[in-house]
Amino acid sequence: MKIRALFLLGLLAFAIAGFAQQPPFYADIQAFKQLDRERKPEKNGILLIGSSSFTYWKDVNSYFPGYPITNRGFGGSSLPDLIRYADDIVDPYAPEQILIYCGENDFAGATDTLKAATVVNRFKTLYGILRAKAPQASIVYVSMKASPSRRKYFPKIKAANKAIADFLKTEKNTGFIDVFPIMLNANGQPKPEIFRADSLHMNEKGYAIWQKVFQPVLLQTPQVKFINDLLGKMTIEEKIGQLNLVVGGEATTGSVVSTGVEEKIKKGAVGGIFSVTSPDRVRKIQEIAMNNTRLKIPIIFGLDVIHGYKTIFPIPLGLSCSWDMALIESTARTAAQEASADGLNWTFSPMVDIARDPRWGRIAEGSGEDPFLGSAIARAMVKGYQGDDLQANNTLMACVKHYALYGAAEGGRDYNTVDMSHARMFNDYFPPYKAAVDAGVGTVMASFNDIDGIPATANKWLLTDVLRNQWGFNGLVVSDYTGVSEMIAHGIGDLQHVSAQALKAGLDMDMVSEGFLTTLGVSLKSGKVTEAEITEACRRVLEMKYRLGLFQDPYKYCDPNRAKTEIFTHTNRALARAAAARSSVLLKNNRSVLPLAKKGRIALVGPLANSRENLVGTWAVSADYAHPPVSLYTALQSAAGSAGLLYAKGANISEDSAYEARVSIFGKKMERDTRSAAVMIDEAVKAAAQADVVIAALGETAEMTGESSSRSLIGIPESQLALLRALKKTGKPVVVVLFTGRPLVLTELEPNADAILNVWFGGSEAAPAIADLLFGDANPSGKLTTSFPRNEGQIPIYYAHRNTGRPLEGEGFQKFRSNYLDVSNEPLYPFGYGLSYSNFTYGEVELSSKSLRGDQTLTATVTVTNTGKVVGEEVVQLYLRDVVASNTRPLKELKGFKKISLAPGASQKVSFTLTTQDLKFYNNELKYDWEAGAFVIFIGGDSKSAKGVSVQWEK
Ligand code: BGC
Repeated sequence: MKIRALFLLGLLAFAIAGFAQQPPFYADIQAFKQLDRERKPEKNGILLIGSSSFTYWKDVNSYFPGYPITNRGFGGSSLPDLIRYADDIVDPYAPEQILIYCGENDFAGATDTLKAATVVNRFKTLYGILRAKAPQASIVYVSMKASPSRRKYFPKIKAANKAIADFLKTEKNTGFIDVFPIMLNANGQPKPEIFRADSLHMNEKGYAIWQKVFQPVLLQTPQVKFINDLLGKMTIEEKIGQLNLVVGGEATTGSVVSTGVEEKIKKGAVGGIFSVTSPDRVRKIQEIAMNNTRLKIPIIFGLDVIHGYKTIFPIPLGLSCSWDMALIESTARTAAQEASADGLNWTFSPMVDIARDPRWGRIAEGSGEDPFLGSAIARAMVKGYQGDDLQANNTLMACVKHYALYGAAEGGRDYNTVDMSHARMFNDYFPPYKAAVDAGVGTVMASFNDIDGIPATANKWLLTDVLRNQWGFNGLVVSDYTGVSEMIAHGIGDLQHVSAQALKAGLDMDMVSEGFLTTLGVSLKSGKVTEAEITEACRRVLEMKYRLGLFQDPYKYCDPNRAKTEIFTHTNRALARAAAARSSVLLKNNRSVLPLAKKGRIALVGPLANSRENLVGTWAVSADYAHPPVSLYTALQSAAGSAGLLYAKGANISEDSAYEARVSIFGKKMERDTRSAAVMIDEAVKAAAQADVVIAALGETAEMTGESSSRSLIGIPESQLALLRALKKTGKPVVVVLFTGRPLVLTELEPNADAILNVWFGGSEAAPAIADLLFGDANPSGKLTTSFPRNEGQIPIYYAHRNTGRPLEGEGFQKFRSNYLDVSNEPLYPFGYGLSYSNFTYGEVELSSKSLRGDQTLTATVTVTNTGKVVGEEVVQLYLRDVVASNTRPLKELKGFKKISLAPGASQKVSFTLTTQDLKFYNNELKYDWEAGAFVIFIGGDSKSAKGVSVQWEK
């Protein structure tokens, strides 16, 4: 009996071990699936399958610009592997052409008795499978190559190559690319200079040779044919003209303005224009191009559609606090619907710059400090703008910006120098840009700052090596506003030099500088740039227009009817109201002051209580300023039911009128009250004395945030603090409604407020949404996506920091530990934090296993209970710590989140699955992998309080 039990146990162990043992290349196939999930594979294109000569050709797309090539080579594979995985490596792509490189490893991996005929038969089997899968596709075999290290197989390789070529001749719709002979020198030996040090794989020179024999065989899609034909007809001036992006002047987003635009369009010297809206004006400009230019190439029309078009949604930093990807996607979808109805087809969004310095005004435009969340949002936005079909007339081409690292400007001063380690770039700052690329974003904008001492606009490593070659981006790269000419001030050279350097680095379109337009011709003549470089940039501009369907119908976005019926609709405004409520974060709610009853008396005070234009926030260039949103005062009047509402302004935004004027340069003026501060406070205190509760609308104006609005001190201006202190003294409960575009220093505000509702700048429907929250018609569910510092000296402050060798342990100051004499290490409010009118409790974190191996999957589960009295939503967050690694790692990194809704008293089990993908990081040699050892999994309602459980994960 005992023996039988032991035997059965043994069998079970064997079965488990067997199960854990994955077949060869299983991990490669999973990696392809992951890639396909991140970025929908291009159907009906050209598919590369086979072994390492394809795997190493990572940048194959850059050898064949415009061709829809998907590379699914997996190194080391032989023909039986391709046969085994045929479903996985072919079905998702429905290819029109399949190129196969395989067979060499069959010989190298077997005994020397393996015959050429065996390999040929294996190929025939593979061919049969592929033919059945893709009856219409052209199937092309790339002959086995001539590598120095495989000389001893040359006779067999040659024989097999020949037999396969002969076989393919008997089949329809096939091809054979013979790379073997072209890799030999005059003596019949492999050319040493085309190989890597391993004498097996090729270097760039080798692939350049391959390119020549591949080119005539590759299938030309209609797009490739059309663009090649057009390029063939274009003069060099016409090509350069396409690289010029001018500004139309309906919105001010920079200080230089394009001149002589109409004349330039007539001359074919404009490829795109931004900041012109409405079907009429767009049509008129398009007509100039269509009626006056030789080749009638349509113009693209762009705009900064950042957080909505006419229906304005919360500023992006606010929206990120919703942690609601479906919501974020629909705001982008709605923005695309409206903007495209008004003539546009290109938006300069999403802005995905990670920012850990709230002094930087543009922190308002991004999604906060975290790369994991930022990546999810980048994907949602790209999907929302571009939809599934760029040819549709209600989608926009998206532009991810500002590539790269713009959010890491030194001192938080806009446009300032950036300098950081490459490991940090790849781990913390690059992921959201890459996520946008993986999601299929059509265009990328280069940032203003320098990186490693080279401005991003002319940084070849950034624009070509990383973006195109490593990440496989094959769309268009545009500069930021005068980004090209600003390199003169960066000290890189004169306009001709910087323009040439930018083109050579991989920049395709020049926004406003006209450096490309005015100097590339000369640079071509003097040999500073090549015609091929200009042609490639032009090709990308044309491809973008082709993908949008502009060549078929240049006026497809100019339907006045759509402009009348699809913009600022009731449905879109309802979405804006929900988005504003879901983006707000309840930071404090002592003794449940909120929600308020709709009875008694409410005193509404503060400089932002009766403001309208500010509610749309920064970067709402298309908002209808003739009809700004209703103020909080107006919204509360209609929402307060039987409650009486008293109003007093109480304070100006700042005592410093010159400061106030500086921040209002482009409108959104604050009406400045000329009464003395004391008189204003007095009036507000009187109102408070008559009320049951006080609402103080405080914070920043919209233009204290956003571009060129950095602040060195990010507290609430003294005029407003003085008002708040006076209100607090009345003994009435004080609710601060906080308007802001950045995490502010709230250390002085916090003790003087009983409740703080951070509403950011909520957009067109901000005020009704705030009223919904204040009266409990909506329940706050936002969570912070950036840490709120206690003072400016703590900056940069972010939850995913590393431990240091002398971490602070416990509370209070400790000598010879990493801490400050005058402030704690902790932020005032941590990343992920936010309250609700419900209360949520978390059970213990349960793991499916505490010891894992290899490619196993870990499930982490926690039970969340709503112990409050109302239905509420909670963002359940999962963090990971890699306890021991070869490089220092963050104490916590977000790796999952779920937003759930719970009825009062209800509980829900929330599970997350983790794989070794989630453990990976870039080490200091930029190797992306995971390291075995101990990890801690934390789950909770914010980055600080999440509870951790340890797990061991071995290779
Ligand atoms: C900003 C970009 C913007 C561009 C065009 C620049 O000043 O940095 O974010 O897309 O202007 O308006």
